[in-house]
Amino acid sequence: MTEIRPVTEAKAVKVPHLPDAQTVTEVKHWTDRLFSFRCTRPASLRFRSGEFVMIGLMGDPDPNTGKQKPLLRAYSIASPSWDEELEFYSIKVQDGPLTSRLQHIQVGDEIILRPKPVGTLVHDALLPGKRIWFFATGTGFAPFASLLRDPQTYADYDEVIITHTCREVGELTYGKELIDSIRQDELLAELIGEGFHEKLRYYPTTTREQSPKMGRITDLMRDGTAFRDLGVEPIHRETDRAMVCGNLAFNLEIKQMLEDYGLREGANSQPAEYVVEKAFLD
Ligand SMILES: Cc1cc2nc3c(=O)[nH]c(=O)nc-3n(C[C@H](O)[C@H](O)[C@H](O)COP(=O)(O)OP(=O)(O)OC[C@H]3O[C@@H](n4cnc5c(N)ncnc54)[C@H](O)[C@@H]3O)c2cc1C
Ligand SMILES: NC(=O)c1ccc[n+]([C@@H]2O[C@H](COP(=O)([O-])OP(=O)(O)OC[C@H]3O[C@@H](n4cnc5c(N)ncnc54)[C@H](OP(=O)(O)O)[C@@H]3O)[C@@H](O)[C@H]2O)c1
Repeated sequence: MTEIRPVTEAKAVKVPHLPDAQTVTEVKHWTDRLFSFRCTRPASLRFRSGEFVMIGLMGDPDPNTGKQKPLLRAYSIASPSWDEELEFYSIKVQDGPLTSRLQHIQVGDEIILRPKPVGTLVHDALLPGKRIWFFATGTGFAPFASLLRDPQTYADYDEVIITHTCREVGELTYGKELIDSIRQDELLAELIGEGFHEKLRYYPTTTREQSPKMGRITDLMRDGTAFRDLGVEPIHRETDRAMVCGNLAFNLEIKQMLEDYGLREGANSQPAEYVVEKAFLD
C-alpha cells in the first residue's frame, strides 16, 4: 500500500491568480525523489495523449525591481486526453529551481500551466502496426501513463508492451499501481482482454536494487532475455512500433537499436515506426 504523506514540511508557494493558474486537487509522494499530482484542467485545453506542456510556479521576486516571473518547465501530461483533470508525475531535484519548491505543493494550491501541448510521443507520429513498445526510464514513464489509459492505444494495436527501468524498486511503484488500476478499470479491462489474450504486457526492471528482473532493458533486449521473458518475437519493422522516453544516453542507445531492427524515426509531419522524447534535459 502506498503511503500518501501530507506535505507539511515547507510552506507551499502560492501564485497570484493568473489566467494560466490551475488548482491542485491531489498530491501523492512515492519516494523521496518522486511524486505525482493532479490539478484542474482548463476547459479549453485539448491535447493528444503523450504530449507535454509547460508548468510551474511564480519565481522569487527580483531583488531590484520586486517583479516576479513565472518559473516554467516542460512536463509530460500523465493523464489521458479524456480525463477531466490533469495528472503529472515529477522528480524532486533538491536544488532544482522548480522542483525544490514544486515538491511542497498541497491540495488547493495553484500552479501555472501554459495550455499549449506539444510533443512527438503521439499515435499520429506512427504508421499503423500490430504491436507497440513503450520504453521508459525513470520519470519517462509519464507520457506512457497517459497513452496506456487511452482506449486508442488498444484499438490501434493487438499487443502493447511497456518496459520501465529504474535504479530502485520504489521508483517503479507509480507505474505498477497505474498498470493495476488499468487492469481493474471496467472500460479499459474490456479493451485489453484477460489471461492469455491480454493485450497489455508490463516489464519492469531495476539496475541498482534487487528485484525480480534486474538489468537495463537495452542489455536485456540485446541478449534476447526480454523477448524470451515476454514470449514474443524480436522487433520487426513490419509489425512493431515504438515510443521511447528516458535519459539522453538511454534514448540514444535504444534509438540505435531500433534503427538496427530496421525501424525509422517518425514525426508528426512524417509518421514512421518509432518516436523519441527526452524525459529531462541532461
Ligand atoms: C519534453 C520534456 C518533458 C519532461 N517531462 C517531465 C515529467 O513529466 N516529469 C518530470 O519530473 N520532469 C520532466 N521533465 C524535466 C523537467 O522539465 C524539469 O527539468 C524538472 O522538473 C526539474 O526542474 P528543476 O527546475 O527542479 O531542475 P532543472 O534545473 O530543470 O534540472 C536540474 C537537473 O536535475 C536532473 N533532472 C531534471 N529532471 C529530471 C527528471 N525528470 N528525472 C531525473 N533527473 C532529472 C537533470 O540532471 C537536470 O540537469 C521534462 C523535460 C522535457 C524536456
Ligand atoms: N535514482 C536515485 O536513487 C538517485 C538518487 C540521487 C540522485 N540521483 C541523480 O538523479 C539523476 C537522475 O537519476 P534517475 O535514477 O532518475 O535517472 P537515470 O540516471 O536516468 O536512470 C534511470 C534508469 O535508466 C538506466 N539507464 C541509464 N542509462 C541507460 C542506458 N544508456 N541504457 C539503458 N538504461 C540506462 C539506469 O540504469 P543504471 O543504474 O545502470 O545507470 C536506471 O535504471 C542522476 O543524475 C542521478 O545521479 C538519482
